[in-house]
Amino acid sequence: MCGIVGYIGPRQAVTVLMQGLKQLEYRGYDSSGVSILNSGSIKTFKKIGKLHNLESIVPESSKAKSGIGHTRWATHGKVTDVNAHPHTNKSGKISLVHNGIIDNYVILKEELEAKGYEFISETDSEVLVHLIDSYLKDDPKEAVRKALKRVDGTYGIAVLFSDYPDQLIGARNGSPLIVGVGEGEMFLGSDATAFVGMSKQAIYLDDGDMVVLTSKSYKTYNRHNAEVEKELEDVKIDSTETKKGEFPHFFLKEIHEQPEAIRRAIVGRLLPEFGTAKLGGLNLEKRDFFDIKRIHIIAMGSAYYAGMVAANTIETLARIPAQVFDASELRYSNPIVDKETLFLAVSQSGETADTILAVKEIQNKGGIVLGVVNSVGSTLARLTHGGMYIHAGQEVSVASTKAFSNQITVMTLFALVLGRMKDVPLSRGKELIEQISTLPEKVEETLKCASQIEEIANKYKNSQSLLFLARGINYPIALEGALKVKEVSYLHAEGFSAGGLKHGPLALVCPETPSVFIITEGEYFEKMIGNIQEVKARNGKAIIVTTSNDKRLIDLADEYVKIPEIDEILSPLLTIIPMQFFSYYISLALGRDIDQPRNLAKSVTTE
Ligand code: AGP
Repeated sequence: MCGIVGYIGPRQAVTVLMQGLKQLEYRGYDSSGVSILNSGSIKTFKKIGKLHNLESIVPESSKAKSGIGHTRWATHGKVTDVNAHPHTNKSGKISLVHNGIIDNYVILKEELEAKGYEFISETDSEVLVHLIDSYLKDDPKEAVRKALKRVDGTYGIAVLFSDYPDQLIGARNGSPLIVGVGEGEMFLGSDATAFVGMSKQAIYLDDGDMVVLTSKSYKTYNRHNAEVEKELEDVKIDSTETKKGEFPHFFLKEIHEQPEAIRRAIVGRLLPEFGTAKLGGLNLEKRDFFDIKRIHIIAMGSAYYAGMVAANTIETLARIPAQVFDASELRYSNPIVDKETLFLAVSQSGETADTILAVKEIQNKGGIVLGVVNSVGSTLARLTHGGMYIHAGQEVSVASTKAFSNQITVMTLFALVLGRMKDVPLSRGKELIEQISTLPEKVEETLKCASQIEEIANKYKNSQSLLFLARGINYPIALEGALKVKEVSYLHAEGFSAGGLKHGPLALVCPETPSVFIITEGEYFEKMIGNIQEVKARNGKAIIVTTSNDKRLIDLADEYVKIPEIDEILSPLLTIIPMQFFSYYISLALGRDIDQPRNLAKSVTTE
C-alpha cells in the first residue's frame, strides 16, 4: 500500500527520494509526491499516476539535502494531485507523509477548522500536519509528540520542518517505519526496500516510537517519551531481488525463482536419518506440542489458500484438527482461545493489517501465535511468539507466487515434525524427506510447461469466465489459480471443489467458459474423471493439468498439461506452476499491468 521514504544527508535528496519511491513501487500506488528542503524553504511536488508523471515535474538537480516522499494508495479521498502526499501546513513550513488511517480525523478536523485551519484535501492525513502546526512552539519533536497523542488510529509518518532543516522526524503506530542508518546520512522507509542499495543497516521502530534524525545521528523515544536504545540490524534484502534482470516482469521472474526459493526454505531443515525436520525459531519445545489439540491458521488471500493446503497436510500427517480462518473475520468474531489451540499466522509481508489485528486479539486473550512470515523483521515476525521464516526472498510482484509456494513448503515441514511425533512411522517420514529434497528439481521440470501454457492462454484469453476445479489437497490450488487469474488479468474466474460442481456452478458451464481441472493420481482420481465428463457433456471445454498419463484424460481433454509425478501431499507445489503461468500469459495477452494490477497493493496495511 502507501510507501514512505525520507532522507537527510550529503546526497542530492531528490535523487535519493525518487530512487526510494521507485523501489517502493511494488507496494502498489495511484499517486506519488516529494517535499524537498533547501535554503530554509520546502518545495512540494505531487502527481497522480505512475512515478514518471512525478519525475516529469521534480527538478532534475536541486541542492536540497533532505526531504520526504510518498506513494499513495487512496483510502480517504479520490485519486487527485491534491490528495496525494506530502501534505503541508498553510505557511508551507511543515510537510508530512502518512501511512495508515486516522480514525478520529473528523473530530480533529472540526476542532482545527474552528481554530481557523483550512483544509484543501479530502484525506484524513491532512489533519496531522495542521495538528502538528497547532502545537509547534520551538521544539518540532514536542509538537509531533503532542499531536500524535491526540490521534486514534494507525500511522507511520515522516515530517519535515523548514525552520529546523537539520532534523527529520518519524513516528509509527500500527504502520511500519524503519530507519536506514548510513555513514553521515539517515533514511526513513515504510519498509527497508525504500533504502536498499543506499543503506546497509537499519533500526526497526516499534509501535508508539518516535525518531529524530540528523544526518549523523538518530534518537529514538518510546510512547512514554523516554529515550530508548534500538538494536542496529543488517538490511537483509539483496538488491538484485528488486531488479527484473532478464525478465520482462517480476511476476514471471518470481515464478522462475521458485526452485531456488524452495531450496532456501528447506536447506538445513531436513533430518533425513530421522525422517523429520527441524525448525529453529518456534520458541516452543517439542514436548509442548503434545498438548496441542487443534491448530488454527490465520491469513488473508493467497496466504489463506496456502493455509488451507497446510491444514490438509497437518490433518493428514499429524491427525490434529486444523482449520483456516479469514483474519478479517476472525478478529471481530470473539474467537475462542484456549491452551490447547495453537495459532499460526501466515503472511508474506508480515504487515497485513487484518492478520496483525487478529493476532493481537488472540494474544490479548492469552493465545500463542506462531508466525509463518517472509519479510524478516516485519511487524508480524516481531509480534509473534516464535515462528518459521519462509525465506522466499523479496517478492516484488503484487500477485504472490514464490511466497505462496514457500509458505506451503515450510508448513509441510511443520506438519511432518508434528506427524512424526504422532502416527507417521520413520519409513514414511524418510520417504517424504526424500521427496521434499527433490522438490526444487521437480519444480524446475514443471516450469518447462511455460510455452504450452502460453499457447493455451492465448487461445482462451477471450473467455467469458474461467472455472478452476479440484479436490482434496489441490482444492486450495483451484482457489489460488482463480485468484491469480482474477487479480492480474481482471477476467472473472472462480475456484470450486469439483464435487461442488453440480450443486450450482455447473450452470455456468458453456463453450465460452472453460474449466481448468487439477488432477493428481491419488484418492480423488476416478471422481475427477466423472467431473470432467459432466463438463464435457454440457459442451464445456476442459483444460486438464495432471500428474497422470491415463488415456481417459487425454481423450477427454481439450488441453492436456502433463506435470511431473510426485507424492500427492506435495503435489500443490507442482500443480500451482501452470496456474501461475496461465495467469501470467493471459494477462500478457490482454495487455494488463502485470506487476501492479489496478486497485491492488502488495501489502494491505489497512483494514
Ligand atoms: C496474492 O496474490 C495477493 N496479492 C494477496 O491475496 C495476498 O496474498 C494477501 O493480501 C495477504 O498478504 P500477506 O501474505 O502479505 O499477508
